[in-house]
Amino acid sequence: MSSTSEEPIVQPRNDAFLDTALRPSTFDEYIGQETIKNNLKILLGAAKERQNPPEHILFYGPPGLGKTTLAHLIANELGGTLRSTSGPAIERVGDLAALLTNLAPGDILFIDEIHRLSRSIEEVLYPAMESGSLNIIIGKGPSARTLDLPLPPFTLIAATTRVADLSAPLRSRFSGGVYRLEFYSEDNIADIVRRSADILGAEVEESGVKEIARRSRSTPRTANYLLKRARDYAQLKRSPLSAEMVTAALNLLEVDELGLTPIDRKLLIALMDRFNGGPAGVGALGAALSEEPSTIAEVHEPFLLQLGLIERTPRGRVATAAAYRHVGRTPPADLNEKLL
Ligand code: ADE
Repeated sequence: MSSTSEEPIVQPRNDAFLDTALRPSTFDEYIGQETIKNNLKILLGAAKERQNPPEHILFYGPPGLGKTTLAHLIANELGGTLRSTSGPAIERVGDLAALLTNLAPGDILFIDEIHRLSRSIEEVLYPAMESGSLNIIIGKGPSARTLDLPLPPFTLIAATTRVADLSAPLRSRFSGGVYRLEFYSEDNIADIVRRSADILGAEVEESGVKEIARRSRSTPRTANYLLKRARDYAQLKRSPLSAEMVTAALNLLEVDELGLTPIDRKLLIALMDRFNGGPAGVGALGAALSEEPSTIAEVHEPFLLQLGLIERTPRGRVATAAAYRHVGRTPPADLNEKLL
């Protein structure tokens, strides 16, 4: 590749792997979620001293807040190998049996989207988590036999966006802790943007950092995504990465000043127009938007709730006065009754 501009555009990193490069691998590098970090440091520190794998850990919360990153970080802190899989990838008992029997002592098994494990597979997981043994039934009818295999000591780390979908027995087996990841403060997101810009070798003006942080949905994954897109924009405009460049790039991506995407805005408007401001259930909203109800519930709704643009009532979701104002409308007179 050759370049005629004064500054070489050649990048030291492969763009396909940028997200891995941005992932913090130590507690010192990981910004935010202080309570979780403090608890994990004790859990891991004590387990390391006893030369035992820590007990099983569950992370839950909206996507993009760092559940997978924490799993990698824990494996790194323990000096163990992380074996990653996900609930939908474990289709048969045999899939789980293969994963468990291939673990080496001290390995960490990471199961993302654990709420999507079937009940029959959960039942094989319980004894594996509790007493480190694999009990499976081979064959059918009178010739069926139980296979009982001891497993090497291991830690299970699981993640979910839908903790309410986990059965109570499964949840209770995460005796190392069940941790809820919170949305990040704007200051934390700004620190993450500065750190990521540093790793990317992108010079971002302070005003640009603040603008990215403001529109990042309090979510590191979104912050890193917007940073990369704004960097592309400024690069092609031959401009420093200023607030002006960030604003132009994010307007092009249709991300508004609050960080809402077109789907978020459509959701608010559907709630107002089709459901008279609500209440409406996620199923009905999903149908109105041609989106999966689970995407509405797991991806869009948590942030709209966090911003106070929608409220959850026993009868469904209701658009708040702030939502009406955000889309440039006057809130209806009976809004307070809806929110009851
Ligand atoms: N990149 C993504 N999440 C991060 C975090 N919490 N801290 C630092 N960098 C990050």
